[in-house]
Amino acid sequence: MVKTVRDYIRTIPDFPQAGILFRDVTTLFADARGFRMAIDQLLTPYAGLRIDRVAGLEARGFILGGAVAHQLSTGFVPIRKKGKLPARTIEQSYLLEYGEAVVEMHDDALQPGEKVLLVDDLLATGGTAEAGIRLIERLGAEVVGCAFVVDLPDLGGRKKLEALGMEVHALCA
Ligand code: PRP
Ligand code: ADE
Repeated sequence: MVKTVRDYIRTIPDFPQAGILFRDVTTLFADARGFRMAIDQLLTPYAGLRIDRVAGLEARGFILGGAVAHQLSTGFVPIRKKGKLPARTIEQSYLLEYGEAVVEMHDDALQPGEKVLLVDDLLATGGTAEAGIRLIERLGAEVVGCAFVVDLPDLGGRKKLEALGMEVHALCA
């Protein structure tokens, strides 16, 4: 049987708290064939489009976004949890499936008018991605797409991002 990206991801019940079915993508990242398949498929909808930079959401979006940026020969911009970036930042708070958090981006990380592809491992409520989109747009750049390995549609993230006018691409549910 030919394996799909979904087949490389394992689900851990009750992590990090009771009731959460945690999609663990470390098993995907650890497999050479699975990881390459995921990077190739993340890029499929954007063939021929102008992309100036890839932005990745901490933490697993760094692993994917770095590989995607390398494949596109673009730069990579990290969107980090509060307090991790050393230079001047802008910040955005958001709600998570299991908590509340603040993300930051360096205020000189993007130039106005740049076309940015936002990458993360998983879309749940969409709060994290929405915060990333807001940071990118506050710097005057444009999000050309939001690419995820996993979409959990019951949590409403896709609808939230599409309501913001975003193009959402996910490899599996
Ligand atoms: C996870 C995941 C996404 C986010 C999705 O990260 O990697 O970034 O949650 O959830 P949302 O759509 O409801 O916002 P997490 O916050 O667990 O951080 P980590 O990658 O640093 O562990
Ligand atoms: N982030 C938010 N919800 C998640 C889940 N169910 N699995 C992995 N990461 C997540």
